[in-house]
Amino acid sequence: MENFAIAIDGPASSGKSTVAKAIAQRLDIIYIDTGAMYRAITFLLMEANIEFDQLDQIEALLKQVDFKFNYINQELHLFVNERDVASEIRSVEVTRNVSEVSAIPIVREILVEKQREIAKGVSVVMDGRDIGTVVLPDAKYKFFLTALPSVRAERRYQQNLKNNLTSQTLEEIEADIIRRDHYDSTREISPLKKAEDAILIDSSKMSIEDVIEFIIQNIYELN
Ligand code: C5P
Repeated sequence: MENFAIAIDGPASSGKSTVAKAIAQRLDIIYIDTGAMYRAITFLLMEANIEFDQLDQIEALLKQVDFKFNYINQELHLFVNERDVASEIRSVEVTRNVSEVSAIPIVREILVEKQREIAKGVSVVMDGRDIGTVVLPDAKYKFFLTALPSVRAERRYQQNLKNNLTSQTLEEIEADIIRRDHYDSTREISPLKKAEDAILIDSSKMSIEDVIEFIIQNIYELN
């Protein structure tokens, strides 16, 4: 079978990365978490005390950054210039600022280029906000995964509990999800939007396993 791409877009905490990772394992293809890349840039800017309007410095930093994804104990870790930033990029502070950083045109321009580069010549499943619309508009399979904000907040809350991350209440998580969705879907460049040819999946009443099966079935049927 020749190389193919699967695009999975959707709002915050809709289960995209869990689903994408499982599909990559089932089909033995590469998984690219584009949200992690925006988070990493946000983390590096904050660490270097670069303000989000210092565009020259942001561009200089972006040009020096090299991304690699590697599995460690079955968890996908993002390495930036050989440095593992997997836990840093999940902090509350990074989550709070990532939407603002990802709305900066030069950030999108350079990261989209890098994402296309990683996807070239291989079969991939890529998740994000603009994969089916902008990054890989020719992807053979496209899905838009969503769920009610309250359902997404509850799932994230449970996942945080499992990972001993207890700094945010359920209400704070839901408020953050709603704020990020609004920011991501109203920004000028590449807003969060379902591609016209993407299959919509509302997982409010589905388990993550159901979503994975649904996508796998669709891929086999569309083939
Ligand atoms: O997927 P995740 O929630 O980790 O993404 C973090 C943030 O990165 C999103 O809220 C969004 O602002 C940004 N993002 C984006 N485009 C993508 C992936 C993520 O703008 N393709």
